[in-house]
Amino acid sequence: MEIKELQDRIRRLLKEKNAIMLAHNYQRAEIQEIADLTGDSYELSVRASKTDADVIVFCGVRFMAESAKILSPGKTVLLPNADAGCPMADMIDAGELERLKSLHPGACVVSYVNTNADVKALSDVCCTSSNAVDIVRAVPADRVIFVPDKNLGSYVRQFVDKEMIVWDGYCPTHHHVYPEEITLLKQKYPGAPFLCHPECRPEVVGLADRVTSTSGIIRFAREDPHTEFIIGTEEGILYQLRRNSPEKRFILASHGFVCPNMKRTRLEDVAAALEEGRYEIKLSPTTIEKARVPLERMIDMGIAAGQK
Ligand code: 13P
Ligand code: SF4
Repeated sequence: MEIKELQDRIRRLLKEKNAIMLAHNYQRAEIQEIADLTGDSYELSVRASKTDADVIVFCGVRFMAESAKILSPGKTVLLPNADAGCPMADMIDAGELERLKSLHPGACVVSYVNTNADVKALSDVCCTSSNAVDIVRAVPADRVIFVPDKNLGSYVRQFVDKEMIVWDGYCPTHHHVYPEEITLLKQKYPGAPFLCHPECRPEVVGLADRVTSTSGIIRFAREDPHTEFIIGTEEGILYQLRRNSPEKRFILASHGFVCPNMKRTRLEDVAAALEEGRYEIKLSPTTIEKARVPLERMIDMGIAAGQK
């Protein structure tokens, strides 16, 4: 079936089922194009907590759809491709976090939203890449266990005067970008600001002119007067960058800047998800009850765009 035909079918199905389609900024262009809302993890989780729709079709990866379910337990949440996971989220499990907590009693557990629901259930508060610095600053503790991203953790550490115990996880997509690539691009495009996601390794983040979430990067590029930018995050963001700033030029920081999991979801999957009610996110009531606390705490803290 043609792309346009599939897109029209999905839009019809969404209406029929009173469903809302959310898409992360890394999704394929043809998916972002027809979503009701695109955004970063923070924006999508807030929106998921507020929708009136009966069904949420989450085009992203599993932890994002789980967060939507946790925040809207009465709704049906569908992840169109069951294999769309996040390798970084899988780098820590509940048993490992339990052990870490027992080694550091009294420390406040801040978990990046890129965690599985059972890890969230053991956390005090969640954060996203757009609010991590402000959340860690705001928690009422001098010692913080930060999981699972060591790169985001080391970025946050620069701005807070707290002891941070950081887990050794990382995003394979962002971690495999190296400072040499950025230095070469900076020589080739002198004057082009380098906008970087904090999941990149510290040597790469250290070269950035702006460090922020995916939506933060899109906003910055729109508002900044420069006409060329080096983009330090997954290639799916180019769709929104070009849509928001059609007159500007965006140079991807690395050729391999692709998250295979974010690319698993295709239009066919979204149509099948709506037609067959698949793949429904199911979590135990206890997990939902416990994981809701840190997610709601993050949203209640109301800090969305605090990256420095
Ligand atoms: P955002 O917080 O910008 O949505 O990024 C999420 C993510 O998975 C980055 O790899
Ligand atoms: Fe996970 Fe990295 Fe993909 Fe984001 S880009 S979903 S952190 S693997």
